Amino acid sequence: MPSSPSEPRSDVDLSVPSAARAYDYFLGGAHNFAVDREFADQVLRIAPSVPAVTRLNRSFLRRVVEFCLDQGIRQFLDLGSGIPTVGNVHEIAAQTDPACRVVYVDYEPVAYAHAKQLLAGHPFATIIQADIRAPEKVLEHPDTRRLIDFSQPVALLMVGVLLFISDEDRPAELIAAYRERLAPGSFLAISHIASEQAAPELQAEVGRLVDAYAAADEYVHVRTHAEILRWFEGADLVEPGLVRLPDWRPDNLVEQKSVAAPLGYGGVARIP
Ligand SMILES: C[S@@+](CC[C@H](N)C(=O)[O-])C[C@H]1O[C@@H](n2cnc3c(N)ncnc32)[C@H](O)[C@@H]1O
Repeated sequence: MPSSPSEPRSDVDLSVPSAARAYDYFLGGAHNFAVDREFADQVLRIAPSVPAVTRLNRSFLRRVVEFCLDQGIRQFLDLGSGIPTVGNVHEIAAQTDPACRVVYVDYEPVAYAHAKQLLAGHPFATIIQADIRAPEKVLEHPDTRRLIDFSQPVALLMVGVLLFISDEDRPAELIAAYRERLAPGSFLAISHIASEQAAPELQAEVGRLVDAYAAADEYVHVRTHAEILRWFEGADLVEPGLVRLPDWRPDNLVEQKSVAAPLGYGGVARIP
């Protein structure tokens, strides 16, 4: 990884592409630079399914937030929140209850700067620039403590972020460190890139994507259903379990038929 947990990125190096800004480009956003677009176009040539999977992921996030709201959740901790784009958590949440609390966390300077600007003056939502591999820093941050009441249920969102956490960074322990702070009735949501269910051609695309990101110093870790499922141990997976992204409480038949559907899993569990 290009930074250590104790030193979140604070610079914007315009000669180096960023995964956060490439993701924004794939979603059709405008918060990216020439270097990101060149990188993203190169990824598109070798892995054309990427924009489709980013949209499936973003759509999964929306359904998760709506589900959590239905369950009475009014506080959200969104780890690896990315550059603000259509369907930000606080916007979805505010449709149900404008007093929902949302803390976004990202270490990428552009994601942080844009979210900070977007949320300026917002009484109930903010972003902190931190590396999620340092859970104490996130959980003890003054803004987290100000907005999130950990004696009440929280939705912990790890959507499209654990793929950037290597096995050496012990994702299971990392998740546990956040989970142990959550009150009963909280929810843990995870989505992750995968390829085991994909046809060989799509698997090869994912392999090329991993290589392209590695060449740009961004390390993507593809994991299996079994590996991701283990992170939910001890919590109650809500129906339909850990499934392909568009199959999680679907509301869009077109998405379920997407060629990119086998490229990611998503699930939500209730903390007992
Ligand atoms: C693929 S985007 C996902 C954005 C959003 N969660 C979504 O699903 O639409 C991944 C984000 O995670 C951030 N990220 C990756 N590793 C991180 C880390 N260790 N600490 C904080 N943010 C991280 C990246 O900067 C990027 O903005």
